[in-house]
Amino acid sequence: MHKLLIILCFSLIIFHGEIKGDEIVPAEPEKEKSELAKLMHEIDVDYKVVEEMSGWYTYKKKHWEIIREAGESIVKVTKKIRSRFGKPDDWTYEELMEKMQIAAEEMVKVAKDNRREGALEDAQWQVRMLRRTCAKCHKHLDIHIYPNLYKKKEKEMPPLP
Ligand code: HEC
Repeated sequence: MHKLLIILCFSLIIFHGEIKGDEIVPAEPEKEKSELAKLMHEIDVDYKVVEEMSGWYTYKKKHWEIIREAGESIVKVTKKIRSRFGKPDDWTYEELMEKMQIAAEEMVKVAKDNRREGALEDAQWQVRMLRRTCAKCHKHLDIHIYPNLYKKKEKEMPPLP
């Protein structure tokens, strides 16, 4: 009787182990986006709006409104990022965050004073200033978002045939 119990016990353990081994491992849940990534995404949406328009030859009143709103929104989000996700030990990061805010603030100024001669060119210049900060910071942190935000490094280019 004793022997039987022991055998039973062992087989139970083995049996249990087998089931466990066969268990379907659940797919890793999609990583929750970080708070910073979410804020970046907000900036990205506004940035794409102004970039899309930056090739145009003329803006109507409603377009200036869109530019102003996008600029204001980028300023707001950038301020939030700077207060919550500052990197005091990374001077380049801090400087580029500030530059992004300044570029967006300038864009708002231009959009508010859009009847001025050269306002269109100035608005487009600010879009370029913005893009430069995105590209520089992502490159600095080795973040690869989309390649058109910055030039690819030489060594990443496919080899010549
Ligand atoms: C000073 C640094 C800095 C600047 C400037 C910057 N970014 Fe980022 N960006 C980051 C960091 C850091 C992350 C990674 C966030 C994470 O994954 O936690 C990021 C991530 C992103 C992402 C990915 C977000 C996601 O959904 O995972 C996008 C898109 C993005 N940035 C767009 C932009 C655009 C557009 C600009 C310019 C208008 C810009 N960024 C300027 C630092 C910067």
